[in-house]
Amino acid sequence: MKKIIHISDLHIGYEDFSERFSKIISNLKTQLGEQARDYVLVITGDLIDNAHNQDDFFVIQKKLEELKQSGFEEILVVPGNHDYGTGSRGDKKFVKVFHDIFYQDQKTFPRKNIIENVAFLGLDSMAEELNWYDEIWAEGELGNEQLQRLEANLHEDEVRSCAKRVVYLHHHPFDFRPLHQLKDSRKLKKVLCDAIAEGISIDALLYGHNHEGKSHNGQWDIPRCYDAGSATLKPRPSYIDWVPGFQTKASVRVIDLEQHDATLDKELTLL
Ligand SMILES: [Fe+2]
Repeated sequence: MKKIIHISDLHIGYEDFSERFSKIISNLKTQLGEQARDYVLVITGDLIDNAHNQDDFFVIQKKLEELKQSGFEEILVVPGNHDYGTGSRGDKKFVKVFHDIFYQDQKTFPRKNIIENVAFLGLDSMAEELNWYDEIWAEGELGNEQLQRLEANLHEDEVRSCAKRVVYLHHHPFDFRPLHQLKDSRKLKKVLCDAIAEGISIDALLYGHNHEGKSHNGQWDIPRCYDAGSATLKPRPSYIDWVPGFQTKASVRVIDLEQHDATLDKELTLL
């Protein structure tokens, strides 16, 4: 079973973050070398800082290609609010741009990948957040249709029969910070907890968005619940970033699902 490296919120295009991400890639190569093939790299959104600067899509695409060439065969991405617009104002036209660049195969969500007996289900937490009346703040919404497909996916034989299941998305599912939350978090909770009650374990829930890098292990009976923070350390507004416990962190975790004990998951220092 491959281990997972979880990173998030790269914000390529902001200041010199393209160079910062190059340094991250270089350190990943140095630290993992030939072992890169033993990992799945999960990136939970905000790959770029502003979708209106379309060149940044190609910058990140090139960098992910570089990672693939260095042995990271499995790289899974989902979009964040900045990938579809400015961060607060999204635009439907960027959905196709993002999908064409990052998804050669399946373009509907959940994105399902079965990798060495682990089912990965990636969600688009911007799916219902691109209407004219959503054009302020940085909330997320999965929508009923995507949640129904998630429920169906979890009950499919090929997903049920996997040893482990990982669900990943951009928006933080637990943190009810005003104007920043996943609006249909309770519905997501119901889908996941109902599955767990039927014996379909959810072994990890991975997300970003808050840039704080905290873990909430055990929430919703899910042993690993991780916010990866911002790998490039993108600061948030200064009125938040000075508050103790709320500062930006880069929590790049190596998750070994074969280990029952989540405290054995390590963090990589890449900057
Ligand atoms: Fe972000």
